Amino acid sequence: MMLSKVLFELVVISVSPISYRTSASAIPIDGVGLEARQLPPVNTWVYQGCYSDPNADYRTLMFSGGRNDTMTLSKCSEVCGANGKKYAFFGTEDGKECWCDYSLRPRGGGVKVDAVKCNSTCAGDATGNTKCGGPNALSVYRNPLIVEPASKPIVVDPATGTTWKYDNCYLGFRGAVRTLDLRVDPAAGVTIETCTSTCASLKYTYAGLEYGHECWCGNTLHMSVTSAQDPSVACKQACDDNTNEICGDIGMLSLYMKA
Ligand SMILES: *[C@@H]1O[C@H](CO)[C@@H](O)[C@H](O)[C@H]1NC(C)=O
Ligand SMILES: *[C@@H]1O[C@H](CO)[C@@H](O)[C@H](O)[C@H]1NC(C)=O
Repeated sequence: MMLSKVLFELVVISVSPISYRTSASAIPIDGVGLEARQLPPVNTWVYQGCYSDPNADYRTLMFSGGRNDTMTLSKCSEVCGANGKKYAFFGTEDGKECWCDYSLRPRGGGVKVDAVKCNSTCAGDATGNTKCGGPNALSVYRNPLIVEPASKPIVVDPATGTTWKYDNCYLGFRGAVRTLDLRVDPAAGVTIETCTSTCASLKYTYAGLEYGHECWCGNTLHMSVTSAQDPSVACKQACDDNTNEICGDIGMLSLYMKA
């Protein structure tokens, strides 16, 4: 009884500094003070936290929204929300960079980090009050009006009546070995529906989507399911041709199989 009460208090204490707080009673550590300066929503976007962005090949937010000396949170939010690009996330890095994406990607090792890592003043903010990430760290905002892309548990191809079932997110390749070996990008653009339908018309058992815009078919998985799995990675990338759907990720395959 005693012990569980102590544990409970430890949990509360350790969680408080990193949780989202709006009241002035926030525990007064630097990190919370910094977070508070970023908390006000930018247009409709809501602050999510400071995320590391350690890997230039697998960015935590993938699409560049520019880098310059006039960067502000508001400008980046406009770039990521403009021209029908329905990015759910924007992030600013190193005071000057703007990044956009449909989802946060863990592929490159990006995780939520202490707010002090996002202490670079936005280069275009003359008051110096707003923070635009830090070196290899992103101040991340989310637009709650945008739904994040998703896989489809079941897809029925209207042309052939074939039912496809979503299986899992696998490595698209390892070295020279591809999990599925025939690339057939449908002329109508790559979505879950067009890819599974194309693989159905070619009488294949598997259909896979990769990197937002690649469609792969096959009858055999050229890797064992075990070696094709990487539990640390999720398929998060929106299909270029339907940003409500997930089409794998960088080097990752959203695999569908005939039911
Ligand atoms: C943030 O950076 C400012 C200088 O821009 C510095 O004075 C302050 O101590 C830094 N805060 C933290 C928590 O690192
Ligand atoms: C700087 O980048 C922001 C965001 O991409 C953009 O809105 C702004 O026009 C750019 N400014 C210059 C001078 O290029």
